Formats: sequence, C-alpha cells, structure tokens
Amino acid sequence: MKFFLDTANLAQIREACEMGVLDGVTTNPSLMAKENIRGEEACRRHYVEICNLVKGDVSAEVIATDFDGMVREGTELAALHPQIVVKLPCTAEGIRAVKYFAQRSVRTNCTLVFSVGQALLAAKAGATYVSPFVGRLDDISEDGIGLVAHIVRVYRTYGFRTQVLAASIRHTHHIIQCLDAGADVATCPLSAIKGLLKHPLTDSGLAQFLADHARVNG
Ligand code: G3P
Repeated sequence: MKFFLDTANLAQIREACEMGVLDGVTTNPSLMAKENIRGEEACRRHYVEICNLVKGDVSAEVIATDFDGMVREGTELAALHPQIVVKLPCTAEGIRAVKYFAQRSVRTNCTLVFSVGQALLAAKAGATYVSPFVGRLDDISEDGIGLVAHIVRVYRTYGFRTQVLAASIRHTHHIIQCLDAGADVATCPLSAIKGLLKHPLTDSGLAQFLADHARVNG
C-alpha cells in the first residue's frame, strides 16, 4: 500500500520525504486555503513546488463544477508538471470530465466518493484513482473502511484498474484498517503516519539497551 500525504503544507511534505516513506501527495481546496495560498497563480506555483519536493503523484483539484470549466482547468493543471493528477468531484459533470481525460491519457483522481455506486461510475469512466472518504463516513455513523473494502472487492471481481485511494484518514488505526481492506493507497495526515512508529516496548527496550551499554562501558 502506498502512502500519500494529505496536505499542502511544504514543511510536512519535506519531513515525510526525509522519513523516506512518502509516495505522493493529495491536496484539496480546503487544504490549500489552510496554507493561505490565494489566487490561481500562487496555487499553481505551490503545486509545482510540491511536485519538486516529492517523487510521486500529486493530486490538484479543479474548482470549476461544469464540464467545460473542469476540462479547461484540468488541462492547465496537468500541463504544470508530469506528476500532477487532476482531481475531479464525483458528480455527473465530474464523471464526464474523468472520461474526457482518460481518453487523452491524463490521469485523474475522482474525489468525494461515499458509495460503491459512485466508485463504479468513476472506474467505468477510467479514473486513475478513486477517493472514498473514510473519516467523513465514520463521522455520520457509517462504515468508512467497510466502503473501502467493498470497492476493492468490486474492482477485483470485475478487473477495474482504478486504484482505491482511501482518503479522509484521521488516525493511525485507519491506516492499519486500510491495509486489511486492500486499499492501493492511503492518503494521511503526517501525525497518523508517525503514529505507526509508536510502541511502548520499543521505547522501554531501547532505554534498557542503552542503560546496559552504559553500565558496562561507563
Ligand atoms: O483527502 C480528502 C481529505 O482531505 C478529507 O479529509 O479530514 O477533511 O475529512 P477530512
């Protein structure tokens, strides 16, 4: 399973790259706003900066909601850098745009997916990635990881090549559940990735090793 970082924060992207475990980045308009990146030009410069930091796919989301606007914007985003994946909402117009880009070999990430039916349409249209939102389903007492597992099952049964990119990952245990569900990618906050490292027996074991070494070596 690949690890993407779900952020537009350059410091966090650098930190994850230095850990040596980062396979890509996903952004969305809320994450760009969180970094206070204003205006089309600044957004585009920021996407290129992210691409220059990370080796791997970088999802950049369109703002337009109509087909023509999504095609225009997505074409411009894809031209920014070969690592850019055009992120499109799972609406009727968005699915049309996924198909348009698939026919032109432009990679897409179909986002805001909350049902297996939406994931089916994204795959039939030729999306490179589909993004089911795990945490937001959990927020309303639905089973986010269950949806990831269901989509993986359907894609495997019918041979769809669209990769399941589990999004809206909120904590470390979600990442482990994504492994069990067979997700191709989990896009996560840095804190959730770092949480994988934590184990009290690692800490106490290391402290014991260092104490024993110091006892004999002074
Ligand atoms: O990748 C989508 C993600 O950013 C949404 O996460 O935590 O806002 O539901 P969240």
